[in-house]
Formats: sequence, C-alpha cells, structure tokens
Amino acid sequence: MLELKNLLNRKTVKNFLSEKINPEILENAIRVAWHAPTSLNSKPVILLDVSKHKNETWISHQVAVQTAPHLFLFAVSPEAGEINARKFLAKRTGETSVNVTIQKIVANRMEWARQQVYLTAAYFATTLEAAGVSGCFIAGFNKSEATEKLNLPESYQAELIFAAGFANPENDGSTETNFVREFNDFYFPNF
Ligand SMILES: Cc1cc2nc3c(=O)[nH]c(=O)nc-3n(C[C@H](O)[C@H](O)[C@H](O)COP(=O)(O)O)c2cc1C
Repeated sequence: MLELKNLLNRKTVKNFLSEKINPEILENAIRVAWHAPTSLNSKPVILLDVSKHKNETWISHQVAVQTAPHLFLFAVSPEAGEINARKFLAKRTGETSVNVTIQKIVANRMEWARQQVYLTAAYFATTLEAAGVSGCFIAGFNKSEATEKLNLPESYQAELIFAAGFANPENDGSTETNFVREFNDFYFPNF
C-alpha cells in the first residue's frame, strides 16, 4: 500500500535487512519510472538491476551498498535522447524528419540528459519509499569504470545508483541531523 506518511517521514537509510522487496512493489516502481516525464519525450534513461555487482571495485566502498539487498543503476544516453526527441519534434510538426540538432534547443546535451536521470530516479525512489521501502541515492561511484565493466548497451553511461531495501530497525545508518533547514526557510507562501 502506498502511504503518504512514509514519504513525510522519509530519510536516507544506509543499513538494511536482507529481506528482498516484494516483486509487485518493485514492478510498480519500475513502471512509474518508465512513465516519468522527460524533456521533449527524449526518454534517454535505462534502469538496470545491478545487485549482483555490489562487490565490484567501482561501488563496494559505499556504506549503503554493503547491506542493501538491491542495487539499481540509472544509465543515460544523450544520443538516444536526441534520436527520441527528434521523433517527438517530427510528430509534433507533422514532418517526416527533423534536422535541427538538439544543441540548438538545449545548451548542453549531456546536462540535459542527466536532468532526465534525476527525475526518473526520483519517481522510482518515491514510489518505493511510499510503499515502505527505504534507500540511498549514490552518485559517488566510479561511473566510467561501471560503464566499462557492466558492458552497458551502446552509448549508455552509468549515472546514478539507488541502493534499496528495508531499514534495519536496530540501526538504519541514517544521519541524525538530516534537517539542516527549517520548513519556513524552504517554502515561501504568497511570494
Ligand atoms: C543525488 C544524490 C547523491 C547521493 N550520493 C551519495 C553517495 O554517494 N553516498 C552516500 O552515502 N549517500 C549519498 N546520498 C545520500 C545523502 O547523503 C543524503 O540524502 C543526505 O545525507 C540527506 O539525508 P536525508 O536523505 O535523510 O535527508 C546522495 C543523495 C543524493 C540525493
């Protein structure tokens, strides 16, 4: 069951029980991520279950990885994004093909593609967290080594990891002082 209170109390967890995520919950989160909005319908992101690679040098130094039963990798291809965006633009204008390069629309193609990773990952993690699953985003890993060792599909690059599972109630590995900013300093009504 998806519960808003799970999100209102969400925190990053770095110590997990060995219990696996229920396949139905996981499938829902994957499908939500698949449906996540992307700029120009570019869909440049793929999601890979890389749980069996947790002991590899590109990721094993991360604390959360040591106990997490699941490891998900978001990889991105600016090239695939551009191809999809062109198709989207062609459909919108009724043309058979669009010649405009994406660089004429977006300042930096990799940065543009990366934004889609973060949004897709947020949809994925939020769905899991609403269902009571915890996790830790990990950007601190050797992305080029991961890309090479995992032999990712052509033109895709490793970008972001989400280590997921159920929080160990004895010690969830979270940071005590996780609220460094008051709500009033975050939200400005009637600005
Ligand atoms: C984009 C992103 C990258 C992160 N990378 C790492 C990481 O490499 N290693 C790690 O232990 N935690 C990582 N974190 C987790 C943060 O340290 C954590 O979210 C932060 O301490 C705030 O805690 P909270 O999520 O409980 O509010 C990352 C979080 C985000 C959003």
